[in-house]
Amino acid sequence: MSFSRAFESLFLALLLLGGGILTQVGCFSFNFPNFTDQNPVDLLMFSPNSRISGAAIQVTPDVNTKSYTINQSGRTFYKKQFRLWSKSKGVAASFNTTFVFTITPLDPNTPVGEGLAFILAADAALPESSYGQWLGILNAATNGSSQANVVAVEFDTRKSYPEDLDGNHVGLDVNSIISIKQVSLGGYGVNLTAGNQTSVRVVFDGKNNTVSVLVMSNGTGEYMPVIMSLPLNLSDRLPEKVFVGFSASTSNYLQQNIINSWEFVGDDIGEDAELLWVWITVPAVVIVLISGVVFYMYWERKHRERPEDAYPMIEDQIRGSSMAPLNFKLRELRKATGNFNPRNKLGQGGFGTVYKGLLANKEVAVKRVSKDSRQGKQEFVAEVTTIGSLRHKNLVKLIGWCYEKGELLIVYEYMPNSSLDKFIFGDEKLGLQQPPLSWEKRRTIIHGVALALDYLHNGCEKRVLHRDIKASNIMLDSDFSARLGDFGLARTIQQSDVTHHSTKTIAGTPGYMAPETFLVGRATVETDVYAFGVLVLEVLCGRKPGNQSEHNDYNNGIVYWLWELRREERIVDAVDSKLAGEFDEDEMAGMLVLGLACCHPNPHQRPSMRTVLQVLTGEAPPPLLAAERPDFVWPAMPPSFKEDTDNAFIKSQLTPFTALAGR
Ligand SMILES: *[C@@H]1O[C@H](CO)[C@@H](O)[C@H](O)[C@H]1NC(C)=O
Ligand SMILES: *[C@@H]1O[C@H](CO)[C@@H](O)[C@H](O)[C@H]1NC(C)=O
Ligand SMILES: *[C@@H]1O[C@H](CO)[C@@H](O)[C@H](O)[C@H]1NC(C)=O
Ligand SMILES: *[C@@H]1O[C@H](CO)[C@@H](O)[C@H](O)[C@H]1NC(C)=O
Ligand SMILES: *[C@@H]1O[C@H](CO)[C@@H](O)[C@H](O)[C@H]1NC(C)=O
Ligand SMILES: *[C@@H]1O[C@H](CO)[C@@H](O)[C@H](O)[C@H]1NC(C)=O
Ligand SMILES: *[C@@H]1O[C@H](CO)[C@@H](O)[C@H](O)[C@H]1NC(C)=O
Ligand SMILES: *[C@@H]1O[C@H](CO)[C@@H](O)[C@H](O)[C@H]1NC(C)=O
Ligand SMILES: *[C@@H]1O[C@H](CO)[C@@H](O)[C@H](O)[C@H]1NC(C)=O
Repeated sequence: MSFSRAFESLFLALLLLGGGILTQVGCFSFNFPNFTDQNPVDLLMFSPNSRISGAAIQVTPDVNTKSYTINQSGRTFYKKQFRLWSKSKGVAASFNTTFVFTITPLDPNTPVGEGLAFILAADAALPESSYGQWLGILNAATNGSSQANVVAVEFDTRKSYPEDLDGNHVGLDVNSIISIKQVSLGGYGVNLTAGNQTSVRVVFDGKNNTVSVLVMSNGTGEYMPVIMSLPLNLSDRLPEKVFVGFSASTSNYLQQNIINSWEFVGDDIGEDAELLWVWITVPAVVIVLISGVVFYMYWERKHRERPEDAYPMIEDQIRGSSMAPLNFKLRELRKATGNFNPRNKLGQGGFGTVYKGLLANKEVAVKRVSKDSRQGKQEFVAEVTTIGSLRHKNLVKLIGWCYEKGELLIVYEYMPNSSLDKFIFGDEKLGLQQPPLSWEKRRTIIHGVALALDYLHNGCEKRVLHRDIKASNIMLDSDFSARLGDFGLARTIQQSDVTHHSTKTIAGTPGYMAPETFLVGRATVETDVYAFGVLVLEVLCGRKPGNQSEHNDYNNGIVYWLWELRREERIVDAVDSKLAGEFDEDEMAGMLVLGLACCHPNPHQRPSMRTVLQVLTGEAPPPLLAAERPDFVWPAMPPSFKEDTDNAFIKSQLTPFTALAGR
């Protein structure tokens, strides 16, 4: 690119960017017809309990389980603050917002609670203990004080204190949970808790300081006459800039608080000074960015020429570790895999592709870490050094590695029988109908995985958490013994997620994640045990973990289903029909109970892998287990939590042997 051409494109970019910013300054509006990836949902921010699911915002948890939904509150805001008024200009902005919400009872037979609100707040953070009557708007400490800095239009579904009109009203709250005005919706033919969609329009006129609320019940297509209209000087009550969004809560009374769509149109009263600032800083930022990109491209090219310098630590780190596996030449691995021929592709993982190869007449599997994943490199060193030094007959063996020309490659032994999921669920893609695994084989596989996991948790120098135990990560060798594979993948995913406050993507695989994962947000020994429990149930029942009921993406259908069968004292009915009854019923029941015990909702109650092994070998009886699913109890912190770190590899002493103590 010649200098003048470069200058030309820079000028063009400036012009486009400047134009873009200008139109943004002119107007504060957004529209979410729904909350799916087609709409820019990353413009929203969520408190820990709220998230997007089912194309809508779930302001409070949407899990169909009592224990998660009791006494919760949540908030969701538009990330960018809205300028409500300007002191220097002496003006207030008007706005007009329309949203559709649905409140559904969790249990149709019990009373619902507590409510949902549209809020304007100075502070985006969810107030502590704002569940129950506080509707996520404020709490006992800030109620009635101007420090609350919040104005809300509440849709209250429960009369929770004497001043509350009824369990079906709209109210206007200003820095207090006691509404300055409330109107019962019964008179308008609206029942908030009938599970119907309700459209609401809140209009604020900044010229005469009036706020109005209109409601349309589902499907009628027309708003009813203004339900509430009253004077309110927002400039007097709130700071110049506020967050706009929703809050909601539950108490011992439960409901789902769902926002289905949301449109907001507000005046932009941006100050001149701000506009000037934009015009000065934006070009400066653009110039810095472009020079950055140019410099980076230059640097990248240089660095590609001498790849060995780019990550000098890799070789030293790997060579320095005790049982360093073989270091292959890129040339050898290219040849082995037919230059990474797509026809030799065995599978695709989170951060690379696995190819089949032939090295010295021996079949191998070669994982090629994708070049543009930064985590790939950290994972690479971790996998080659730490996992590479693990030796166990039920772990997939790492043969060697290669780091050359920016390529990160790991060589494993080849597993002719591919992965366990193909055998228990069949391979839909290939249309292969595998012969069903016999009870003997299933028992051996479970035992093998337990041995591998006990070794990782308790048997090697440093404790290793696998974090992604699932059927597709269990390889089968030629004798159908289980080999645990794909290490560190989950850790890689976890690390990128730890800092992310939204739960849009969660570490691990849905269906295998312990309930507390959502609360403590990280993996522990006990979450591995939980995933192992799910795997046991899958293998015995021949079912995928999440497919027992339709609308669940993470509450472990198979586990709930088995608790249900256990309650009805017919747990053996769950067994895979493909086994055609060919198994020892007592032994099977014992193993199902063991699987369920591993999936105990409380991490403290789950057996250690050491205990699991003793049960499997008959040294100990199956654990005692309640006849009904126990409730999840706070605190969720599992016993090992304190020693856990963000790393997959925990420096810790071997766990003391946990005796069975009379179980
Ligand atoms: C969500 O809205 C987009 C338009 O923004 C539309 O294309 C899409 O079909 C909608 N999705 C659902 C699930 O309603
Ligand atoms: C929910 O909160 C109420 C009031 O604070 C309390 O009485 C009740 O015990 C709480 N329920 C649970 C399950 O913690
Ligand atoms: C608010 O917006 C809706 C649609 O966006 C419009 O139909 C309505 O007239 C507006 N109301 C006011 C008072 O501006
Ligand atoms: C909340 O504050 C209001 C004053 O704004 C007061 O009347 C009310 O009793 C308070 N409610 C609670 C539950 O403390
Ligand atoms: C709620 O919706 C049901 C149908 O889903 C309808 O029969 C009922 O009349 C609606 N109730 C209200 C109050 O809108
Ligand atoms: C609202 O609907 C729910 C669920 O259908 C029902 O239990 C309740 O009695 C209704 N409330 C009123 C005031 O009609
Ligand atoms: C609300 O109305 C829309 C169409 O207007 C309909 O698709 C939807 O099923 C209704 N929802 C409920 C809960 O009645
Ligand atoms: C405020 O102005 C709006 C129109 O912008 C009008 O509909 C409303 O009646 C006015 N309210 C008062 C109290 O004057
Ligand atoms: C609203 O409050 C602001 C800030 O206290 C004040 O400057 C303004 O005069 C008030 N507006 C009206 C109409 O009273």
